[in-house]
Amino acid sequence: MHYLVKPAVLRSGAIAVPGDKSISHRALMLGAVADGQSVVSGFLRGEDCKATLAALRAMGAQIDIGEPTTLHISGVGMRGLRRPAGTLDLGNSGTAMRLLCGLLCGQPFAATLVGDASLMRRPMRRVIEPLSRMGARIDSNDGLPPLTVHGGESLAGIHYSLPVASAQVKSAILLAGLYADGETSVLEAAPTRDHTERMLQFMGIELQAEGGRIRMPGGQPVRPADIYVPGDLSSAAFVILAALLAADGEVVINGVGMNPTRTGVIEILRQMGAAIEIENCRSAGLEPVADLRVRSSALSAIDVDPAFVSRAIDEFPVLFIAAAAARGHTRFTGIGELRVKESDRISAMAEGLRQLGIKVQEFSDGASVQGGRFTGGVVESHGDHRVAMSFAVAGAVAKAPVTILDTDAVDTSFPGFAELMRSIGADIHVSPGPQPS
Ligand code: S3P
Repeated sequence: MHYLVKPAVLRSGAIAVPGDKSISHRALMLGAVADGQSVVSGFLRGEDCKATLAALRAMGAQIDIGEPTTLHISGVGMRGLRRPAGTLDLGNSGTAMRLLCGLLCGQPFAATLVGDASLMRRPMRRVIEPLSRMGARIDSNDGLPPLTVHGGESLAGIHYSLPVASAQVKSAILLAGLYADGETSVLEAAPTRDHTERMLQFMGIELQAEGGRIRMPGGQPVRPADIYVPGDLSSAAFVILAALLAADGEVVINGVGMNPTRTGVIEILRQMGAAIEIENCRSAGLEPVADLRVRSSALSAIDVDPAFVSRAIDEFPVLFIAAAAARGHTRFTGIGELRVKESDRISAMAEGLRQLGIKVQEFSDGASVQGGRFTGGVVESHGDHRVAMSFAVAGAVAKAPVTILDTDAVDTSFPGFAELMRSIGADIHVSPGPQPS
């Protein structure tokens, strides 16, 4: 598929975005090993989470889909998963592969994890190394997938200082730590999303998180729970920027997750002059939630503080678009991790922005973007959902139509993106086929 996005006048409205991807993955995994029935509402039915769901079903977890976003999970208990008949295909999802790797270390069988071409290129040594130190045995293709996790080894807790700020690595260690003898502790150099810690505590696990260190005794059973998944702020970010760049008007996004480890994008955009109000703050079980009121705003360039990086890690593609639409020169530094996401996002965004007439200088761990006006053009998404959606936002305010190639991956995190953008006035046509004629 590809998108053809024509310039349009966006209109005011109120919308809601699909459920949080990170929380949906975790609800599936912890629900599957809990000792009883869990109910998950607000679940994201995107391709990534569906891959996790299929993998857990292939290992014997019974997961029923009620209403479109409600799951009933019959947990099989901590060691109740069964050896899958074949390899587990996790599609595009790094979260699925890295977190399952941790969970599978504690199961009494071997399983092999594979994915699509993008996932097969993503670095896995960052989980293999700490999990091996705990006693796990994991085969890889020189640090890349496929990964074969040989469960059944006895695990011991470790004290691990994360060399990269990564919630996936932290979570993989904690999941394996549930099966380990003794205490597992993880020290973070920068705060990363803490959904695993919150959900573990919500499901009866004793755990302490203080000063960047998480400590958890091993050998504790996960209790079933009713889990509410809020709207995904990472998905809302595209709508937020579209609303900011609109000529006039106001968009309200209801029920968005406001976990403080995720809200860097709001703080960065506010520093650029964005009018974003956080209203009706409430707690939805284990996570804070709010409604966002976004008014069209003139954005100005900033030097983005690297201290925000780990709290906005998935929002840099859309922030590159914000920078391109801002007055002045925006500088991003300390974002080298973007090069090992679903695509090399620094280079994918720099290349696409240049296609749309924006001046970008790329360096190893960042870029500087000269604000301007988007021309029309054709942009490669590199099969990356967030790159595709970022350029769709640019297309809505460009001088001429923008075609974005290879947008299938949008369904990994934001099914219904084009329809939702159309509901606030965007002119997005979705066409099948690899190339526009
Ligand atoms: C995620 C963690 C982040 C993020 C990813 C989801 C998670 O990855 O980019 O989209 O759910 O734990 P890293 O841990 O590689 O930073």
